[in-house]
Formats: sequence, structure tokens, C-alpha cells
Amino acid sequence: MRILLTGGAGYIATHTIVELCNAGHDVTVVDNFCNSQPAALKRVARIIGREVPYYEADVADSAAMERIFSENTFDAVIHFAGLKAVGESVHQPLRYYRNNLDATLTLCETMAKHGCKRLVFSSSATVYGVPDEVPLREDMFCKGCTNPYGWTKYMIEKILMGIAEADPDWSVVLLRYFNPIGAHESGLIGENPNGIPNNLMPYITQVAAGHLEKLSVFGNDYETPDGTGVRDYIHVMDLAAGHVAACDYAGCHSGCEIFNLGTGIGYSVMDIINTFERVNHIPIPYVIAPRRDGDVAACYADPTKAKEVLGWQAKRSLEDMCRDAWHWQSLNPDGYSDKQ
Ligand code: NAD
Ligand code: UFG
Repeated sequence: MRILLTGGAGYIATHTIVELCNAGHDVTVVDNFCNSQPAALKRVARIIGREVPYYEADVADSAAMERIFSENTFDAVIHFAGLKAVGESVHQPLRYYRNNLDATLTLCETMAKHGCKRLVFSSSATVYGVPDEVPLREDMFCKGCTNPYGWTKYMIEKILMGIAEADPDWSVVLLRYFNPIGAHESGLIGENPNGIPNNLMPYITQVAAGHLEKLSVFGNDYETPDGTGVRDYIHVMDLAAGHVAACDYAGCHSGCEIFNLGTGIGYSVMDIINTFERVNHIPIPYVIAPRRDGDVAACYADPTKAKEVLGWQAKRSLEDMCRDAWHWQSLNPDGYSDKQ
């Protein structure tokens, strides 16, 4: 298939390009580089052995999207483009609603106009809100989100469900990611957050690198086995493979389907620290800090549907995730802003 990746220079998309190309697909990227750099696509080119064609444009820019769809014929689109920082979305809600919703609406209008009606969307476990029970299944009621970022995912899911319901030619796959971490085994691509990371694994790798002094563990009094928060961490290459399965599925089904992409295993913050220290032989100094606003005790997937319907299952272990995250960080202390 010829596949357009919006937000294609970002963390998850760059890893997905590698898996799509390994599976024989052709990719084109559109990205405005608001949270990424063209250098990331150069690194992908080194892995796959060919250049990644890309357009620098905002997905909400209908003239630019019209040009991209006029110059190419796409069989499917994977829509990664969006702003994703939970805390920032609380302080800049309009920017988040404007960017994430406008990009999706413009994309879908352009796709419909050009008869490209297969869409895979990057949703998030955040749409489940504060869970009553875990593991989380796709058919559980989503009670609402705790921040504007989460609401954009929730609203976009509803918009896409409506589009697929109104026109049976559409095939929409909503992928609810759990917690992607790690990097491609080569260490050439990985997560490259701006400034001080908000998420656990990039924070840990920066402590390991000596850029940050110590990790704050946000709460050790949750109702979890060791009191720290439990999440479903998934290797980004496993997540990438899930997109290949989702594209194959979209190619031969219509309607709208939702899939959790997680391992189904919950690990605590202490599990992550201990495993990272053990596999990389680097101590991670930490302190116990108060709970972080909006955090839930435990969040992990029931991944049965993706296994049964998509034939996809995560394969990599927590050890792999910790080793590959550190491999990327240690080879790229300044992210993509070096000469490699
Ligand atoms: P990322 O920030 O690395 O990638 C997003 C990309 O989209 C960036 O390259 C950015 O420049 C681009 N972008 C943003 N708005 C754009 C616009 N209007 N036009 C063109 N390009 C635009 O993030 P990621 O971690 O790779 O996440 C990819 C998608 O997955 C996002 O939609 C995110 O919300 C979703 N997601 C991520 C996580 C996670 O933990 N990383 C979890 C659940 C869902
Ligand atoms: N944590 C710490 N210290 C830190 C950072 C995180 O103890 O410095 C803890 C958190 O309290 C939580 C766990 O580590 O228990 C994971 O936190 P992350 O910030 O890495 O991830 P979240 O589960 O909070 O959220 C992530 C993404 C969201 C997405 C969600 C579900 O940031 O966008 O996963 O996919 F919605």
C-alpha cells in the first residue's frame, strides 16, 4: 500500500515507517516539525536504506493537504499528527483543541475528496479516563478525560466513528496506545522530548546520562503491589508492528474498529527503575514525591481483541524496552541535534 503518515517525523511514526517498509509498503510523510525535526527522517533513511519522501506542512492547512493528495495516490493514511503533552494541554487548551481537531477535520475532508477512505488513528488509553477496573477492554464505557489533550482524543474518536457510520466506504481503525517506550534496536531513532521530560522513561534515561540529578517517584501510597503507579509499557517497535496489522485490517474491512495496543502487563514505577538498573548496570537515584495531579493508580490493557482480530501481539520484554531506551539515549545525548 501507499500510505501517508501525518506527524510522520515524530517518535512513534518514525518507528512505524521502519516496520511499514519492512512489510513492503511505500510511505510519504507530512509534518510541520512543531515537535520533531527532518533529521529524524534522515536517520530512518539510514535504517531502511532509502530516503523518506516528506512534505513540510500543517495538516490543518487545506491548500497544502490538497496539493499533497493531488500529487500522490494514497491507499491509506495513519494520522499521528497532534500535540500530546498532557500538562501543557491544561494550560493551553485552545491550542490543543485547535491543532488536534482542525488537523483531523482537514485531513478527513481532503481524504474524502480524493476517495482515500482508509484511516488509522493514534488514540490513547487516556480516553478511558479514571478506570473502575483493569484490565481495560475496548467495549468499556469511556467516562471522560482528565485533561484537554485526552478530550481531543475522545472527540476525534467520536468524529471518526460518525464519518464511518455515515459512509460505508470508510474504514477507520482507532488504536488506543498504552505507554510506548524504548527505541529501534539500532539506536538511530528514539524519543526526543523537548526540555525536561514529563514521562517516566525519558526522565530515567536523562538521570542515567547525568543530565538530571534524580527521579521523583510520584506517590508510593497507591493501591498497587508496591504502592507506585502501574502502567502498561509497550516497546515502540511492537507498537509500530501494530500499525502494520491495522493497515492490513483497514485494507479489507469497512466501518470503525477500536483496538488497544498494550502488552496486558502492568509494571510499577519501581519495577521500571529496578529493571533499568539491572539491565544497564546504572544506578537511578530517586526520591518519593507527592502524587501527580490527574494520575491513576493502575492502567493496563486487555489486548485480546488485537490478538484475535489483527493477529498482533507485543513480543518484546521490559528488559528489551529498558535496554533499547538507554542505547538510544547513550548514543544520542543531544537527540537528533548532532552530526550522526
Ligand atoms: P510526537 O510529538 O513525537 O509526534 C507527533 C508529530 O506530529 C510531531 O512530529 C509533530 O511535529 C507533528 N504535528 C503535530 N501537529 C501537527 C500538525 N498540525 N501538522 C503537521 N504535523 C503536526 O508524538 P508521538 O509520541 O510520536 O505521538 C504520536 C501520536 O500518538 C500523537 O497523536 C499522540 O497524541 C499519540 N499518542 C502518543 C502516546 C505517547 O505516550 N507517546 C500515547 C498515546 C497516544
Ligand atoms: N512518573 C513518576 N515520575 C516521573 C514521571 C512519571 O513517578 O517523573 C510515574 C507516573 O506517576 C505514572 C508513571 O510514572 O505512574 C507513568 O507516567 P508517564 O508520564 O510516563 O505516563 P502516563 O501514564 O501518565 O501517560 C502516558 C502519556 C499520555 C497517555 C497515557 C496513556 O503521557 O499521553 O500514557 O497512553 F495518554
